[in-house]
Amino acid sequence: MNKLLALFCIAGFLISCSQQETVTLSVTSPGKINSIDFQLSPSGEPIYLVSHNEKVIIDASSMGFDFKDQKSLKDNLKVINSEKKAVHKTWEMPWGEQKEVVNAYNELMIELEEDTAPHRKINLYFRAYDDGIGFRYEFLPQPGVDSLVIMDENTEFQLTEDYTAWWLPGDWDIYEHLYSTTKVSEIDATTKRNDPNLAQTYIPENALNTPVTMRGNDGIHLSFHEANLTDYAGMTLKVDNESLKLTSELVGSDRLGYKVKRALPFKTPWRTIQIAEKATELIDSKLIVNLNEPNKIGDVSWFKPKKYVGIWWEMHIGKSTWDYAGSQDMNTFSKDLKPTGKHGATTENTKKYIDFAAKNGITGVLIEGWNTGWEHWIGFEDREGVFDFVTPYPDYDLEELNQYAKDRGVEIIMHHETSAAPRTYEQQLDTAYQLMKKLGIHSVKTGYVGKIIPKGEYHHGQWMVNHYRKVLETGAKYQVAINAHEPIKATGIRRTYPNAIAREGLRGQEFNAWSADGGNPPEHLPIVAFTRMLAGPIDFTPGVFDIGLPTKEDNHISTTLAQQLALYVVVYSPVQMACDLPENYEGQPAFQFIRDVGVDWDQTVVLNGEVGDFVTIARKERETGNWFVGGITDENKREISIDFNFLDEGTTYDAIVYKDAEDAHFMTNPTAITIENTEITKGETLHIPLVEGGGFAISLIQKK
Ligand code: NOJ
Ligand code: CA
Repeated sequence: MNKLLALFCIAGFLISCSQQETVTLSVTSPGKINSIDFQLSPSGEPIYLVSHNEKVIIDASSMGFDFKDQKSLKDNLKVINSEKKAVHKTWEMPWGEQKEVVNAYNELMIELEEDTAPHRKINLYFRAYDDGIGFRYEFLPQPGVDSLVIMDENTEFQLTEDYTAWWLPGDWDIYEHLYSTTKVSEIDATTKRNDPNLAQTYIPENALNTPVTMRGNDGIHLSFHEANLTDYAGMTLKVDNESLKLTSELVGSDRLGYKVKRALPFKTPWRTIQIAEKATELIDSKLIVNLNEPNKIGDVSWFKPKKYVGIWWEMHIGKSTWDYAGSQDMNTFSKDLKPTGKHGATTENTKKYIDFAAKNGITGVLIEGWNTGWEHWIGFEDREGVFDFVTPYPDYDLEELNQYAKDRGVEIIMHHETSAAPRTYEQQLDTAYQLMKKLGIHSVKTGYVGKIIPKGEYHHGQWMVNHYRKVLETGAKYQVAINAHEPIKATGIRRTYPNAIAREGLRGQEFNAWSADGGNPPEHLPIVAFTRMLAGPIDFTPGVFDIGLPTKEDNHISTTLAQQLALYVVVYSPVQMACDLPENYEGQPAFQFIRDVGVDWDQTVVLNGEVGDFVTIARKERETGNWFVGGITDENKREISIDFNFLDEGTTYDAIVYKDAEDAHFMTNPTAITIENTEITKGETLHIPLVEGGGFAISLIQKK
């Protein structure tokens, strides 16, 4: 008797359990590692099950939808057809953590129809990959129905044991929470409500945001997420602590009173589970991008992966201000702006950053606070029409600085903080991007701080998902690449829209400057590498050298200097900031690593790691063939062994090893670093001690 049938029998669903009565449709991954079984229950309810190496990891789980104007679609279904196909293709990333990606899977498509009127039809697509599985729904045309209003999607994931989970609360407005590590039975996301560090937060129930990563007793790792989130609401996962079942809970709209509205026919995003024997294989997995469609916007060679500096950290540590007038008084808001002398984005200050970038081979400079509106950006209900994305403050000469940067081989990175007023931004999108095109500026950092206007919308709902997409589409039209902060989560859209270069969507470095809870703890990034990073590139903004600078009395950057260097390799992004003030890099030998390190990779090798503890990654730079290695640890010191087998045969590399000094410690002696020059060839081994909160970075430059 097959697994599903046995289950129904045990559960007493079937009166007579005979093999003939129930049909199981199955699909197995190309390497026979993961498989999905599908069956209809006696009441015609769709049920699926996932196995890894024959072991059930998702037990019988049902699927269904509730609608506004129709009865729920959850049972009374019959299989009218099913088809299988095998795909093995290779595609190229225009920029990325590797050049070539293999997309190999077996697909099972199942056509279902209701047994009784109105005989609605729904197709299911299951894909089995060697690194996980994905499935999605396709709603087909219904006579007399133009669009479907989804009130709830009820996709279940029945866990088979009480996994250890690294989780974020299912906040509808932000992903910038600290991770918690608990058993699934102990998850309580509601304890994360009212975080004083967040400008907007809404956690309606005990649910999680994705990716959420788990480890089982036998060491298996699962990560739940979604791929190709297009014209649909973001998915959170409701937790049942007792039955250990996760159920999809879509982000809603209080304004519209539903979760999703779509014209028929349409396909939902993929529901995904990355499955790995070892934590490191989760980072190797390309499941999320593979479940997205190929590049739709053509050549994006106008965007060059880059390192950048910028007028940013100085605002976060309170040295300067975004706003010109330094006042948030409504009366001084739009006219008679009087400078306070603390405005960061001045022509003079920007030149200082451009000069620094040019001198150090850094090709981008971000300037925040250059445009009007910052007097009124935060803490106000009415933020419509406030920001102007083409008008600089009087002390910022946009045209002159653009030319000044160009003359020095540097490109300005535009900044558009929307203060979560997307309609104001949409009204100006074309004008703003036309200006960028005219200036030859090819990337913009956007921001969505605050509660979304109109009221009742959330950052992760369908309405905002569509806004973020509109920004990408408009960007593509004007050759503008987007690095979104306070974004919708990454779901592999960068494959289809490779102008989606990076995003925030996590507690970034900025929290180390001002959060009321003392900054990010040392375990934060060793968790991020196995959770948020599985979704896509992260604009974390590493590179603080002045670690000891207490910006708030109790704040502490829980890192060593060597760890800050390691982040350029560990945390993947095609745009990597060197976030500290230029003066803090001057005369620092460790800055050589930031000058040298690549940002666009041919190959990535995850050498070792455990979720929340440590991780070491090696990446080979495109064009040069040089390798860079980075490793980080949590609050525990440890020794990392690196086996240089990944290096190219017959090449000798000039290596510079940047490691924690013996007496370094993230609390007491964070900047103590040892820098050693040596030669390394394939097959050699190094043992590197990492101190508490520490790390290391190695550059391996091919010897000529
Ligand atoms: C929040 C972003 O994460 C941060 O990087 C930016 O400086 C501010 N918003 C202002 O836009
Ligand atoms: Ca942020």
